Amino acid sequence: MAPVNTTAMPVTIVIFGATGDLTRRKLIPSLFSLYRKGRLPSGLRIAGYARRPYSNEIFRNYLLEGVQEYVRGSFDPAAWQAFSQNIVYVRGDLSNTEDYPGLQLSLGEIEGGPANRVYYLASSPEYFPIVVKNLGESRMAGEEEGWRRIVIEKPFGRDLPSAVELNRIILSVFQESQVYRIDHYLGKETAQNILFFRFGNTIFEPIWNRNYIDHVQITMAESVDVGHRAGYYDQAGIIRDIFQNHMMQLLALVAMEPSSSFEADAIRNEKSKVLTALRPIAADEVAKYALRGQYRGYRGTEKVAPDSQIPTYAVLQIYIDNWRWQGIPFFLRCGKALTAKTTEINIQFRRPPHVLFPLPPGRDIKPNLLTIGIQPDEGAHLRFEVKNPDTTAEMHSVEMSFHYADVFGPDSIPESYERLLLDILVGDASLFARKDAIETAWRFIDPIIKGLDGQAAPPLYIYEPGSRGPAEADEFIARAGYAWLHRCGGHDSTCEREEYSWKKPHQ
Ligand code: BG6
Repeated sequence: MAPVNTTAMPVTIVIFGATGDLTRRKLIPSLFSLYRKGRLPSGLRIAGYARRPYSNEIFRNYLLEGVQEYVRGSFDPAAWQAFSQNIVYVRGDLSNTEDYPGLQLSLGEIEGGPANRVYYLASSPEYFPIVVKNLGESRMAGEEEGWRRIVIEKPFGRDLPSAVELNRIILSVFQESQVYRIDHYLGKETAQNILFFRFGNTIFEPIWNRNYIDHVQITMAESVDVGHRAGYYDQAGIIRDIFQNHMMQLLALVAMEPSSSFEADAIRNEKSKVLTALRPIAADEVAKYALRGQYRGYRGTEKVAPDSQIPTYAVLQIYIDNWRWQGIPFFLRCGKALTAKTTEINIQFRRPPHVLFPLPPGRDIKPNLLTIGIQPDEGAHLRFEVKNPDTTAEMHSVEMSFHYADVFGPDSIPESYERLLLDILVGDASLFARKDAIETAWRFIDPIIKGLDGQAAPPLYIYEPGSRGPAEADEFIARAGYAWLHRCGGHDSTCEREEYSWKKPHQ
């Protein structure tokens, strides 16, 4: 049992694998930004734990380079000076049980008394099980001296059995309430906003179902290629890297039922239910419901197999077998080395059931389209039809738009890790994946990966870096009777605004 007064205790964030990329690029810049906003609890300390022979000074300087490069807004040297005094380095081997008593001792000295602790696993994933076991064996998970929370980065396993095993190991040492499984997409302001948008307004929810929605598209396009993560990527591929986590989470937020409260478990129960209702795609059906691609040049990347079949682009056509979504396709599309970075959700509504206007032959009314911009165009756009002025019956598609930057200012969107780190500190697990959701997502994804690796795999289409991806993706969605939706700019930037309008020919 944790003592009652843990809220008054100082907190130590212990980062395992502290000399890795994540610490410099995301964790420390986010913590520094929170410090500058005055949002960190007083007495917060950060202890980096890794093997390199660093002193506190060297470690702080190493982090400083990252902060200068990645922190949002201007860099304040005086604030860094003050903040960095709370960062210490402890040297040790993550996998060596014998090093943990030394870590415990160093933390005890730094803390000088009872303290709460966050154990942040920022190392590469093969260390996750051993760090957890070592924390257990060194009796560092017990809450007699303050609360203990453990944060696990993605990837959480590489298939269902490994995820189940990792959960088993974690839960043999920690309680589920102490565990925070990160999916940084859930920390994105715009991903969080999906629930506010849906359930903080009355006008969307009544039409948010198969009666009014025609289909849904979720696109996550990246302009970057696999870069220095090629070694990891060639083992993972885009389905494990993006679909199993970020895509499943966005899908769950779009498709879930309203929860009765904003409590972590109430929300997570509803998200889990959606994932449980996903219609399985068997390995031998994958060619029908999935498309895969690889950008030209990927195989020439260092640490990538010269004949690699790993997809860097994929599309999945998914169905949710429940009352709300029966028969409505969800197209999930992700890729690397594409035209531009764009993550957006497009919800296309059904066309009006009866057209009373005299449309030109072959034309139909454009259906309403709701676009939720996750990044970089953070906001929402609703497309609808209006009458062209001074005409009899010409129509034009227009948009109502909301941009976070316009309303809240250009720097209003914080780094997603800021929200996640704050939530860990206050013990709010709403934005973290629960055991069941992770395993359900893997249960759905596993046969797809098996199918993509197996005899019945669809062809691997090669696309040009900097392109929209394989042209076959257009054919894939067309076969299902749909077309890719997009707003101007962004990934499908070839579109013209005029595409959305039609005019009655002059008489
Ligand atoms: C990570 C993936 O989880 O998300 C990367 O491993 C990907 O491959 C990244 O580039 C994208 O995150 P964001 O926040 O830039 O969209």
